[in-house]
Amino acid sequence: MYLVQAQVHPDHTYKTDRMAQEAIENKVIVITGASSGMGAATARRLAQLGAKVVLAARREDQLKQMAVEMGKNTMYVLTDVSKRADMDHLIQTAITTFGHVDVLWNNAGIMPISFFEEGKVEEWERMIDINIKGVLYGINAVLPHMLSRGQGHILTTSSMGGLNTFPSGGVYSGTKYAVRAIMETLRKEVGETIKVTTIYPGTVATELGHDITSPKVNALFGNLDALPKMDTEAIVNAVIYALSQPGNITVNDIMLRPLGKTVN
Ligand SMILES: NC(=O)c1ccc[n+]([C@@H]2O[C@H](COP(=O)([O-])OP(=O)(O)OC[C@H]3O[C@@H](n4cnc5c(N)ncnc54)[C@H](OP(=O)(O)O)[C@@H]3O)[C@@H](O)[C@H]2O)c1
Repeated sequence: MYLVQAQVHPDHTYKTDRMAQEAIENKVIVITGASSGMGAATARRLAQLGAKVVLAARREDQLKQMAVEMGKNTMYVLTDVSKRADMDHLIQTAITTFGHVDVLWNNAGIMPISFFEEGKVEEWERMIDINIKGVLYGINAVLPHMLSRGQGHILTTSSMGGLNTFPSGGVYSGTKYAVRAIMETLRKEVGETIKVTTIYPGTVATELGHDITSPKVNALFGNLDALPKMDTEAIVNAVIYALSQPGNITVNDIMLRPLGKTVN
C-alpha cells in the first residue's frame, strides 16, 4: 500500500512514470547497508538510472566490487552506522566528493532475533545500536545540510515488524517501532521542506537473519526458506517510486509484503 501525501510546493509539476529517470539522474544518493540485499540491489538500479551513489557498509570487498561494476559515479565509504563519527564522515565525504547530498537512505540493519528468556543481551544491544542509533546518527549527520539547502529526502527501512510483533521479535520489532516513531516525528518537524519516507517491507530474500543464534527461533520457524518472500526488486521499485515523485509530493510510508502465509 502506498500512502502519498501532497505538500505545498506550487512551483513543481507532475512527471510521468517515463520521467523517473529524469528525477533520479544526477541525484546524490547515500545508502547505508549497501553491501548486500535490498540496499545493494537498489544502489545498482539507481546507478543505472544515472544517480551518483555513495555506498556505505562495513564489508569492503563487497563495496569495492560493486563500485567497480557500477562505474565512475559511484563511490564507497567504509561505515559502521553504530558509530556517530563514521556517519558524520560518510555524509561529509559525500558532500566533498559530489557537492551535496540529495538523498540519505538509512537502510542498514540486523535481525538476530531470540526469545527474552534466552537472555541474549549483547544481541539486543547490537540491534539497538545499529537499527536505532544508526538511523539517528544518519539523520543528525545530514539534516543541517538538507535544511540549509531547503531540500532533501531521508528514507529509512523499518519493517512489517515495526507495525506488528511476533514471539522472538521483541527487540527487533522494538527497534523498528522506534524507527517509525523517529521518522514520523521527523516528518512532523521538517516535512514542509524535507521529504521523509519510511519503508515497511514484509519478508524479502536477503542475508537478513543469517546471524540468528537462537536454537529456539530455528525450532519455531523451522524452515525459514519455506516462507513466501519478495525479491529485492520489489524494494528497488518502491524506492524508485518514492524518489520519482514530483517536488510537491512526498511518499510518507510504503508497506509491502509477499502474498501468502507470513510471520506477522
Ligand atoms: N529481508 C527482510 O525480510 C527485511 C524485512 C523488513 C525489513 N528489513 C530491513 O531491511 C534492511 C536491509 O536488510 P536486508 O534485508 O537487505 O539484509 P542484508 O542483506 O543482511 O543487508 C543488511 C545490510 O546492513 C549492513 N549493516 C549491518 N550492520 C551494519 C553496521 N553496523 N554498519 C553499517 N552497515 C551495516 C550490512 O553490511 P555490512 O555487513 O557489510 O556492514 C548489509 O549491507 C534492514 O534494516 C532490515 O532490518 C529486511
